[in-house]
Amino acid sequence: MIPLSLAEVASAVDGRLVAADPDARVTGSVEFDSRKIGPGGLFVAFPGEKVDGHDYAAGAVAAGAVGVLGTREVPGVPMVLVDDALSAMACLARAVVDRLPGLTVIGVTGSSGKTTTKDLLGQLTVRLGPTVAPAGTFNNELGHPYTVMQANPETRYLVLEKSARGVGHIRYLCEIAPPRISVVLNVGVAHIGEFGSVETIALAKGELVEALPADGLAVLNADDPLVAAMASRTRARVVRYGESGDADVRAVDVTLDERGRASYTLVTPEGRAPVRLGLTGRHQVSNSLAAAAVARELGMPLADLAAALGELGLVSTRRMDVFERPDGVTVIDDSYNANPASMGVALRALASMRGQGRTVAVLGYMAELGDFETEGHQQVGRLAAELGIDRLLVVGEPAAPIHEGATAVGNWGGESVLLTDQAAAVEVLRGELRPGDVVLVKGSRYRTWEVADALRAAAGNEVTS
Ligand SMILES: Nc1ncnc2c1ncn2[C@@H]1O[C@H](COP(=O)(O)OP(=O)(O)OP(=O)(O)O)[C@@H](O)[C@H]1O
Ligand SMILES: [Mg+2]
Repeated sequence: MIPLSLAEVASAVDGRLVAADPDARVTGSVEFDSRKIGPGGLFVAFPGEKVDGHDYAAGAVAAGAVGVLGTREVPGVPMVLVDDALSAMACLARAVVDRLPGLTVIGVTGSSGKTTTKDLLGQLTVRLGPTVAPAGTFNNELGHPYTVMQANPETRYLVLEKSARGVGHIRYLCEIAPPRISVVLNVGVAHIGEFGSVETIALAKGELVEALPADGLAVLNADDPLVAAMASRTRARVVRYGESGDADVRAVDVTLDERGRASYTLVTPEGRAPVRLGLTGRHQVSNSLAAAAVARELGMPLADLAAALGELGLVSTRRMDVFERPDGVTVIDDSYNANPASMGVALRALASMRGQGRTVAVLGYMAELGDFETEGHQQVGRLAAELGIDRLLVVGEPAAPIHEGATAVGNWGGESVLLTDQAAAVEVLRGELRPGDVVLVKGSRYRTWEVADALRAAAGNEVTS
């Protein structure tokens, strides 16, 4: 974080100093996990039901914290007292942004691909200037301000994932870190359980472009009609990306290699350049175009941009992470999360990677689909069968409609089985996998990742997360 005195912190969060030196300066990071506190840090104590952060306040100070932001006094601990630690984090993050006039805040939202695109974009902007775009998903009312506070006076670009579980959420996040550039990827049924309808999801995601100033920039997916329509909801200039003929930054002549990696010709107002992605999945064409559209606006020349796109790698784990085992089995670990759209792109990637062996999909439950739950799972099963996936292992009773959807496809030559848990799936795979097989592992966390880890461990590879 930028250095701030405790008096400045208190004023930013409307807090009261207790037993604290107003001139003591916070020079380290702001943490709500006391184990991460280092010299000069600020510890934020949340009153939890099971664990109360205030119990760790003295320890945080012993570890070097200059003070503790919390909701009740702790004897002997220099405190900034507030009513609500979460809104205090938001205010402090906003104070940081306000003190960094040279910072460009870039927000990314969408139903699928936020973390992936944030990671791609961060790898491009870092070539243009110091960038904060930490690995992983930090997109909610806690992770968002936490990420924002990692910016310091050297930071030029702050790339933020902004997610919504309801109308008004993104507007709130934009008050913490007002974007200058807003990227909207897609509108799908992720979290439809909370939202109720796709139209409400579009309403919520569009708040990201409504938050832009007149001299800001909205980067919109021209291939998604609900996203393209958001052009009317912003004062800012609009740049459109996609494969549509009228997109400003577009991909033509897309091809996939045997590992599902896309090549395309990048077409911009400055000209054309060949791009060869090292990332698996056709959906990365869209994600890479979104990132390219931003980097181009920030001044990256076309030739540099095309070369940089070819060097993009994975940053956050368990998202289309492809690894090859010594026994000749290829694994796609996409086990971080799942919704019907992301299941679709992952299954298509699997189908495109068919080699000498079989294609195998290990699919788990998709959370937060509400009324759409049964149908969403059935659709995924149907798609797997229609794509001609050879073997489907459906993990856990709640995911059963995937199995039903697949087996209902009459002319499918593959086979599906419903298994009780992850261990059962690992057992089946152990018996069935042969060299040349390609296996996709995907679900909404719920331990589906255990299958991916077992496949990794069986290959003698280190588990990465
Ligand atoms: N543009 C895209 N369209 C559809 N699916 C995508 C796209 N990009 C990535 N995915 C799929 O979505 C999965 C999750 O990607 P990612 O973690 O980037 O999404 P997210 O929007 O950050 O999700 P969350 O809401 O959990 O934070 C990927 O592993 C991949 O299967
Ligand atoms: Mg994410």
